[in-house]
Amino acid sequence: MISQRLVVILLLCTFLYAAIPDADNNYRIGVGSYDMTGPAAEVGMMGYAMVGQRTHGIHFRLRARAFVIADRKSDADRIVYVNTDTCMTTQAVKLTVADRIQKKYPDTLGKYYNNDNIAISATHSHAGVGGYAWYTMYDMTTFGFEKANFEVVVDGIIAAIKQAHDNLSQGGRILLNQGKLGNDSNINRSPTAYLRNPADERARYEDGNTDKIMTNLRFEDQDGFELGMLNWFPVHGTSMTNTNKFISGDNKGFASYVVERKKDAQLKRAKGRFIAAFGQTNEGDVSPNTRGPSCPDGITPCAEDSTCQGKTQLCTAKGPGKDEFDSTKIIGEKQAVAAMKLYDDVAGSIVLSGPVRHRHTFVNMSSTLVKPEYTSTGKIGTTCRAAMGYSFAAGTTDGPGDFNFKQGMNKTGNPFWDYISSFVAKPTEEQKACQAPKPILLDVGQTEPLPWVPDVLPIQMFSIGSLAILSLPAELTTMSGRRVKEVIHKTLVKNNPTQFSAEKAKVVIAGLSNAYSGYVTTFEEYTAQRYEGASTMYGPHTLAAYTQEMDKLAFAIANNQAVPAGPAPLNLTDRVWSFNPGVVVDTHPSGKPFGSIHVDVDTTKTYKTGEAVTAEFWSAHPKNHLMTEQTFSSVERRTGDGPNDFEVVVTDHEWDTTFKWTRVWIAQSTATITWKIGETIEIQPGMYRIRHFGVSKDLFGTRTPFVGSSSEFKVVA
Ligand SMILES: *[C@@H]1O[C@H](CO)[C@@H](O)[C@H](O)[C@H]1NC(C)=O
Ligand SMILES: *[C@@H]1O[C@H](CO)[C@@H](O)[C@H](O)[C@H]1NC(C)=O
Ligand SMILES: *[C@@H]1O[C@H](CO)[C@@H](O)[C@H](O)[C@H]1NC(C)=O
Ligand SMILES: *[C@@H]1O[C@H](CO)[C@@H](O)[C@H](O)[C@H]1NC(C)=O
Ligand SMILES: *[C@@H]1O[C@H](CO)[C@@H](O)[C@H](O)[C@H]1NC(C)=O
Repeated sequence: MISQRLVVILLLCTFLYAAIPDADNNYRIGVGSYDMTGPAAEVGMMGYAMVGQRTHGIHFRLRARAFVIADRKSDADRIVYVNTDTCMTTQAVKLTVADRIQKKYPDTLGKYYNNDNIAISATHSHAGVGGYAWYTMYDMTTFGFEKANFEVVVDGIIAAIKQAHDNLSQGGRILLNQGKLGNDSNINRSPTAYLRNPADERARYEDGNTDKIMTNLRFEDQDGFELGMLNWFPVHGTSMTNTNKFISGDNKGFASYVVERKKDAQLKRAKGRFIAAFGQTNEGDVSPNTRGPSCPDGITPCAEDSTCQGKTQLCTAKGPGKDEFDSTKIIGEKQAVAAMKLYDDVAGSIVLSGPVRHRHTFVNMSSTLVKPEYTSTGKIGTTCRAAMGYSFAAGTTDGPGDFNFKQGMNKTGNPFWDYISSFVAKPTEEQKACQAPKPILLDVGQTEPLPWVPDVLPIQMFSIGSLAILSLPAELTTMSGRRVKEVIHKTLVKNNPTQFSAEKAKVVIAGLSNAYSGYVTTFEEYTAQRYEGASTMYGPHTLAAYTQEMDKLAFAIANNQAVPAGPAPLNLTDRVWSFNPGVVVDTHPSGKPFGSIHVDVDTTKTYKTGEAVTAEFWSAHPKNHLMTEQTFSSVERRTGDGPNDFEVVVTDHEWDTTFKWTRVWIAQSTATITWKIGETIEIQPGMYRIRHFGVSKDLFGTRTPFVGSSSEFKVVA
């Protein structure tokens, strides 16, 4: 009896000790995470627009991380924010996620989440898989739509939302903290364009030509149980270069990996993984390649016009590391360390309180009139039908184009883009005038029968107490982001100082959200017509138009008013095209079945931490099965004498292995699995083996799983 009472009292004490104060217990919170890794071989990658950059394996898997936040007092007021390890969110993905949630789960998820209160943002990893857009412009370098990738992206997002919804807490608190990273964490890749912004405006920002500020949210349930974090910092996902062919979450994916592993190890709990999402914000002109651009000699700088000996291909920016993997780690680690510091600093954080609201509208960006108070000319402006300028084809110093275009130029004479542009109508005089001073390479808003890019785009605002999250379907440059945030902050504080007090109101931009429409520069940066200006599709007043329309949402949120839905975007589900063949058949050499060893590990050697060990297997096409939430590779340690006495130490989900797929002969292939021992995962000495999992396909289309194993090898710590 007594001992039972003691236990109850003790439990109560623990509860009282851990529970968060009631005044802070304002929200119900749910977190979820799901694998969204696309086909690991022979599919075009998304980001650099390099035709030959097609996947050939996995470095680490891509994930969707979801956060549901509901007002504890009014449960129907809720939002879900999903951060995805993709290059951008396409309109196809967003509209399909919202549509399928309604159809698949009409009585559960469908009741709570729809197009208006789901935000899907992207980390902007350039090492993910492409072909998931409805619009031709974004499927061009992947030779069309890749249904398998589209499906795994959509499914992964829905599964993450479902987990977050099913795990919604009864209460909880959200802590917001902000801090700065050092000058070695990001760099402006178009500094000459930035310099066109007015001097007095530039002088107001002590961070210089990129934002250094990081915003972090910490989520806990009513018992103080740590659920996860969501974080924003501007830097491109271009630490992995345009010659990489491994699927990777790039620097933000690595930051998530580091924090999630660290927290899970620290919290040691049986259930409830810690979810850490590193979101993207105004990264348009922001590069992780902090050593800056230089010519092949590694010394001659080339920031000015981004060419060496007249060639763009030769001027590339280098990351801080010894190679692209190392650079990814360094830039990811900086974000992870800064985020953990903000996360742990509970005393220095703001506790969010106040209603959860969301507003969403569609805007026709081809024809938006902009009031003088938003334009930089002081006169009425208008957006234009979409067009790409010449510098778009030049690429950037993070990934120069294949061809000899210079940024800021209007010369032609390039076979690939001349060929592509021959499909597109010649721009009218009116269009030229509207887009000026942009020299038009591709007049993509005028194509028949379907536009190559969307003209109806979503903008969306969430508020959680005094925090406003602006979801924009584009990449805003540093100064563009600052301008939008400033306008929105003013409107919120002016219209509702109770919820948005001048000190507590915080505004963050969720970049690359809900659809994709290229870049957004300031009016002044646009005149430089570097890559970002050339990719500001709707003309010089693009930023002003987005700001004006977002300001309407801010006014509506502050005054709790409704907003119009706006024009309906196109649904191109049945209009996509593809030139990509599927897998016909897998074969293997006679006597070497799928999964058998091609090149074994060295069994005579003793391996040590810091070394790499490799095994090569006869394999089949990874497109046959994506191994979602499973793995193509594993490293396993022997735990006993039985044939199955092994524990899994590393899989595709971790940093320390690479799985590389190679086509050998018409239908034969190998898988090379390399383990960098102890690189991020400390290991125990012992006997290890490497295994490979796959699925083969025969001529009749029958798919058969197979497993292969290397010989055992010895590892000392
Ligand atoms: C788009 O069209 C497809 C088929 O034509 C339909 O199944 C789907 O529900 C539509 N999606 C949206 C978001 O309306
Ligand atoms: C970072 O760069 C800015 C602009 O160049 C400079 O003003 C500032 O002092 C630098 N900060 C540090 C910590 O080096
Ligand atoms: C709750 O989250 C955990 C991961 O933290 C997940 O494994 C589980 O499936 C989720 N529960 C539900 C009901 O979705
Ligand atoms: C958007 O504006 C353009 C230019 O005025 C117009 O041609 C197009 O039909 C509009 N799109 C929608 C969906 O209203
Ligand atoms: C191209 O640039 C040159 C000088 O840089 C300029 O004189 C010319 O008018 C431009 N042409 C177009 C079509 O913009």
